[in-house]
Amino acid sequence: MKTVKLKDGSEIVIRKAEVDDAEQMDLFKQYISQESDFLSYGANEIEESAESQARLIQSANLAENSVIILAIVNEEIAGFVTFNGGFRVRKKHSGDMGIAVRKKYWGKGIGNLLVEALIEWARNTETVRKINLLTRTDNTTAISLYEKYGFIKEGILTRDVCINGVFYDSFSMGFFID
Ligand SMILES: CC(C)(COP(=O)(O)OP(=O)(O)OC[C@H]1O[C@@H](n2cnc3c(N)ncnc32)[C@H](O)[C@@H]1OP(=O)(O)O)[C@@H](O)C(=O)NCCC(=O)NCCS
Repeated sequence: MKTVKLKDGSEIVIRKAEVDDAEQMDLFKQYISQESDFLSYGANEIEESAESQARLIQSANLAENSVIILAIVNEEIAGFVTFNGGFRVRKKHSGDMGIAVRKKYWGKGIGNLLVEALIEWARNTETVRKINLLTRTDNTTAISLYEKYGFIKEGILTRDVCINGVFYDSFSMGFFID
């Protein structure tokens, strides 16, 4: 757990999710699904519940190669970063990252703190050697954030996302943990 001051002076706690965060995490996902078209799910599209969030948190906390890290401001979830490592022996060393910050907190430095926390967590595992992610090629904010920390564009998935009949390509990006 780490407490730091944001660019605007407010205090933020960065820590792993616990089962008690399930209800707030469910709410957080409902909010972010309505606030950005850069996520793989749209508004009211996620049929998750506090119970399913509790199961997700529990299984991440039991796995050596998965994690959910929260950014908390004023006791509210302002952002999270997730990493799901592979299940089989041949895929355990790699996994997929996801990140989102509530719109009202964009541009305050939370994305930076979450990416730093994930890289630090990954370096401290004995297992994780590669972080993968997908991001729409027009998500310039996210791409700048990833490139700032050394993520590399590895390829393009064409027609990866379709929103209201419009297709969007995604970059596959990656980061080595060595
Ligand atoms: C992408 C996202 C997580 C960034 O979080 P954030 O808290 O706003 O980011 P930060 O304020 O920490 O900024 C981190 C970096 O992102 C980039 N960035 C932030 N705002 C930007 C903007 N308006 N334009 C261009 N780059 C920007 C910069 O590189 C910045 O680094 P700096 O602090 O050195 O300038 C957030 O915008 C978000 O949740 N977006 C919607 C969901 C999403 O796109 N998720 C990623 C899916 S792949």
